[in-house]
Amino acid sequence: MRPTVVLTCSVLFYYLEIVHSRGVHGKQEWPIPYRRFDYRPAADSYCEAMFPFCPTGDRDGRIPYMNNWDIISLFRMQAPVWEFKYGSLLGKMGAACFFEGIDDVHWSENGTLEKVGEISGGQFNEMALWVQGDNQTGIYYETWTVRSDPGPNATVWFDSYDCSQFVHRTYRYLTQQGAKLSSRSQTNYTKIYLYSGEPTYLGDDDSIFRVPSAKTLADDIRKFYHPFRPHQSYMDFVLSLAEAYQKVVEEKSFYLYYNFEYWHLPMKSPYVQITYEEVPLP
Ligand SMILES: *[C@@H]1O[C@H](CO)[C@@H](O)[C@H](O)[C@H]1NC(C)=O
Ligand SMILES: *[C@@H]1O[C@H](CO)[C@@H](O)[C@H](O)[C@H]1NC(C)=O
Ligand SMILES: *[C@@H]1O[C@H](CO)[C@@H](O)[C@H](O)[C@H]1NC(C)=O
Ligand SMILES: *[C@@H]1O[C@H](CO)[C@@H](O)[C@H](O)[C@H]1NC(C)=O
Repeated sequence: MRPTVVLTCSVLFYYLEIVHSRGVHGKQEWPIPYRRFDYRPAADSYCEAMFPFCPTGDRDGRIPYMNNWDIISLFRMQAPVWEFKYGSLLGKMGAACFFEGIDDVHWSENGTLEKVGEISGGQFNEMALWVQGDNQTGIYYETWTVRSDPGPNATVWFDSYDCSQFVHRTYRYLTQQGAKLSSRSQTNYTKIYLYSGEPTYLGDDDSIFRVPSAKTLADDIRKFYHPFRPHQSYMDFVLSLAEAYQKVVEEKSFYLYYNFEYWHLPMKSPYVQITYEEVPLP
């Protein structure tokens, strides 16, 4: 172990209802922008985390302050695929975690550990502030990227907001701050795509679940999300996935929860795709 700082991201299963309203959609711009919030609300005590958050990290997510003249090495780390354990949809919360010390031997033997650049202590301190702001305002996780088709000119309806996006945002931020990043090898990231025609806006929790006239839609959405409920056994999870897949393909319908609002996706072939594609450094 050596004293090195690592930023990683993880996922908490979390259900959150936020009350807010929106204006009527005029001409829709795509993709729908991921909504930022002023601050991260306190976690609902009803929600039980499946994994301890920041298991070995600083409990308050504090990031140490560096001297301006320090030179900090940046490493790209990649673990073998173990992440796609629960692709749960509903109510995920992504957050950045901070801890000290990489187990070098483990990462070099069973993953990738490659130096991609250097930054100054001053740049590091600025990045730390930026990460904390990003973490406070980007409060929920979105697994899916929704596109019109797999081709290069596809329209993106919704972009994902997942762990790898956090890594890309941080790379972009560092590059904007003047860091030079380079890697000898390519890095591929797992992406999960949904394919659909133009989505239709349905409403938020208030207008769907608290209005009697929307009962049919509310029931439909509940039924749709039932297979995705967290805390299932592995077997139940596999069965649920199959059930969900069948619904998507046979009924060509998907209810997407994005920005705490619901959208209907008229699904089309190839419906769902999991890719492992390269995203180069900025
Ligand atoms: C990100 O937010 C979570 C939840 O509020 C918090 O536990 C964590 O310490 C924060 N991480 C950083 C790096 O600020
Ligand atoms: C790498 O993975 C193997 C198999 O899981 C494990 O036995 C080994 O201890 C790991 N190596 C390190 C250095 O952690
Ligand atoms: C994508 O768009 C470009 C530029 O408009 C065009 O030249 C190209 O043929 C299109 N490709 C496909 C597969 O439609
Ligand atoms: C990584 O991504 C590139 C381009 O997206 C692709 O050609 C390559 O096959 C991918 N590598 C693996 C191991 O999947």
